Amino acid sequence: SVEYSLRPESLNQYIGQTKTKENLRIFIEAAKMRNEPLDHVLLYGPPGLGKTTLASIIANEMGVQFRTTSGPAIERAGDLAAILSSLEPGDVLFIDEIHRLPRSVEEVLYPAMEDFCLDIVIGTGSSARSVRLDLPPFTLVGATTRAGLLSAPLRDRFGVLCRLEYYETKDLCDIVSRTADIFHVGIKEDAALEVARRSRGTPRIANRLLKRVRDIAQVDGENVISIHTTQKALKMLQVDAQGLDHIDHKYLIGMMDRFRGGPVGLDTISATIGEESQTIEDVYEPFLLQIGFIQRTPRGRIVTPLAYEHFNREVPKD
Ligand code: ADE
Repeated sequence: SVEYSLRPESLNQYIGQTKTKENLRIFIEAAKMRNEPLDHVLLYGPPGLGKTTLASIIANEMGVQFRTTSGPAIERAGDLAAILSSLEPGDVLFIDEIHRLPRSVEEVLYPAMEDFCLDIVIGTGSSARSVRLDLPPFTLVGATTRAGLLSAPLRDRFGVLCRLEYYETKDLCDIVSRTADIFHVGIKEDAALEVARRSRGTPRIANRLLKRVRDIAQVDGENVISIHTTQKALKMLQVDAQGLDHIDHKYLIGMMDRFRGGPVGLDTISATIGEESQTIEDVYEPFLLQIGFIQRTPRGRIVTPLAYEHFNREVPKD
């Protein structure tokens, strides 16, 4: 599908995340020289920055199969055992949201990661016995929003840790131009830059906005997407000049209106705006922190003067 082909397939096609790419290139080359699977890799960072894409690129670059699943999809130890025993030597197994693996499943994963074996119990009661099965060597690529969400024993079993960062505008601009090429649509440089600027450092958001901008250009009969059409689309989508959306606004305005800008605890914010605490913490807050619109204090979150300025409001006086 088009959606799939948007994903770059090699490290050379992958834009941004320079440090992570540099590291992975070397570790992949070394593993290939030794004819070994790559060490297990943990990718962490906010959603939409390309963790799944990177995992599939790792498999491509290693020349092995890419197998994918997620923490919540693996409910029992047996589910994981079935997946692990179906791998071929060197395969990449990608587990998205790996922090959501049940503890009982996590325990099966330890010997699998460390010694490529499965310890399974056969039978019950007094006839129960433990059998050790060998697995093919494989690479586990885990993805999570924050490394701190993993238990220490799981985190310690990854040899390569990659933190994905929000993208620079220039990189997002290149991604938007690349995606437009794939869509066979032209886009003016200033229009691509505008989409990039308003994408919260996130390629998934940039590509989603581009799709909607393309829809409007198409309906308006515009061959090459202009800045005018782009601004019209972004207005329709309620994306503001900083790329903040409806939920970011609810968060910030809620804190300003009801709590004089804080400090406010996460659970209070969650109850006020009707979003889950975990989603707020992993999806919305990282970007607001990054652009300096909120700060974390021991007593809760506070809205900064910069955010007040963004909304043309006065900072309340004590
Ligand atoms: N499409 C989405 N993310 C991308 C990236 N990092 N590089 C190239 N194309 C992309």
